[in-house]
Amino acid sequence: MIGLGCDHGGYELMQEVKKHLEERGLEYEDFGCYSRESTDYPIYARRVGKAILDGRCEKGILICGTGIGISITANKMPGIRAALCTDCFMAEATRQHNDANILAMGGRVVGPGLALKIVDTFLDTPFSNDERHKRRIYKIEHQEEE
Ligand code: RB5
Repeated sequence: MIGLGCDHGGYELMQEVKKHLEERGLEYEDFGCYSRESTDYPIYARRVGKAILDGRCEKGILICGTGIGISITANKMPGIRAALCTDCFMAEATRQHNDANILAMGGRVVGPGLALKIVDTFLDTPFSNDERHKRRIYKIEHQEEE
């Protein structure tokens, strides 16, 4: 299950993402927003982050105008690793290296064609499971100095 969240700045692109996931036969849960009306991105970042931490969703996709505010918010939640991606290299690397559990994008930054390729890359790339990456992810959560 993929948790989806956006604000008004990401609403248009999120409609494309939903269509694409449906075409791929992938299940999602839509945590809003549900219109183009101005709203506050932290609401949706937290809803999706919580669904991942609860185990209700495996991964999430968050979209605001830039992808910045919504990813900053999600990354305040321990256990959430939200990656703001503007190309497929970033989407692939963040899955392999950071085991990112949320993809963040900017609806005013990437066009729909590229965005859907980023989505596919993010969803289809497994974590490498390399020891060095596991060690670094552990250090993200445990604030170790060395
Ligand atoms: C909303 O205007 C905009 O600030 C928001 O979508 C996002 O870009 C914030 O980081």
